[in-house]
Amino acid sequence: MTSLYIHIPFCVKKCNYCDFLSFPDMRLKDDYKRALINEINAFDCSSVKSIFIGGGTPSVLEGGDIADIMQSAGKFNISENAEITIEANPDTITAGKLKIYRQNGINRISIGLQAWQNGLLEKLGRVHRRERFLRAYDTAYKYFDNINIDLMFSLPSQTYEMWLETLENVTALEPKHISAYSLIVEEGTPFYGMELELPDEETDRRMYHSAVDFLASKGYEQYEISNFAKKGFHSVHNCVYWERGEYKGFGLGAASLINNVRYKNTESMVEYISGVTVAEKEELSDEDIRAEYMFLGLRMNKGVSISRFNELFGRDMLSDYADVIKKYRKYFVISGDRLSLTTEGFDISNIIMAEML
Ligand SMILES: C[S@@+](CC[C@H](N)C(=O)[O-])C[C@H]1O[C@@H](n2cnc3c(N)ncnc32)[C@H](O)[C@@H]1O
Ligand code: SF4
Repeated sequence: MTSLYIHIPFCVKKCNYCDFLSFPDMRLKDDYKRALINEINAFDCSSVKSIFIGGGTPSVLEGGDIADIMQSAGKFNISENAEITIEANPDTITAGKLKIYRQNGINRISIGLQAWQNGLLEKLGRVHRRERFLRAYDTAYKYFDNINIDLMFSLPSQTYEMWLETLENVTALEPKHISAYSLIVEEGTPFYGMELELPDEETDRRMYHSAVDFLASKGYEQYEISNFAKKGFHSVHNCVYWERGEYKGFGLGAASLINNVRYKNTESMVEYISGVTVAEKEELSDEDIRAEYMFLGLRMNKGVSISRFNELFGRDMLSDYADVIKKYRKYFVISGDRLSLTTEGFDISNIIMAEML
């Protein structure tokens, strides 16, 4: 079983914090779609368990463009209960587009709200405001049962109370899934060069812990560092990444993992539309695979299977990582066959992972 990622690198406007591969210039949209469909046509796999149309902002395209892309993916053997997600921004959602998404098999929508307060949305450089999000959400709710809302915290000028207000209002809408990311000020983004009033480290962690506790009290189970879902609604597609399942990425800059080889598509639009796709190919060594197994698996609340590691690599996980596990023992949980991190362990997961590798 394979999962497919389809990248749409267009946005209405670039947000101040974003370093995803996307741009507001859509002049090459038709050429891009053609190249994307060519790449899809050239690939084959046995069966598909999830598709994720991400970006950028896939909902900036016309409904008909998404229909064309989904129809080209229709040549794959897509399993009947496959999770098929599209990312959308509030300002580009219309009933007409949502209807076309449903008609073409898309059964999950991920909407980027980011923050509840219009002042914060403006600082982030978002196009939408809360009122537009609420209208978009109402429309989406008519077509989709499985909705994700993306949020960010630790934003410039955001107080702890503002974050709680965001969580309260978002959970009142009862989406099935919520993602909550701590803002990363990425090099090369407008935020990087700006003087920002960022919450301090302690407030950042307080915001994170309050999200974990508050969302749990509203019936959202945390299943990964930044992801929360109602029972049965965790994202199948995201779990494929963390569990090192096989996936193929189509489009500009898209990454794939097939038979323990990582591929990365070109990030040059000119190259991509001329039919050059893969830019990098890396055959993973056993050591790389082991490291990925640990640092991706430990992002999930359920952690990693000890016996699977031992079987896959012919080694003993608990002795391989004995020193780190001993040093950080209060952050680890060993329960039956699984090794996982506590919420406090998630706080320092970067440090722990660095010592494991
Ligand atoms: C592919 S992006 C954007 C999807 C969609 N275009 C949008 O903006 O809503 C997926 C999510 O990553 C998060 N994100 C993007 N840049 C980030 C950053 N610098 N730090 C933390 N989270 C970020 C945002 O929550 C965003 O919704
Ligand atoms: S956050 Fe989303 S809308 Fe904003 S620039 Fe990045 S991909 Fe585009």
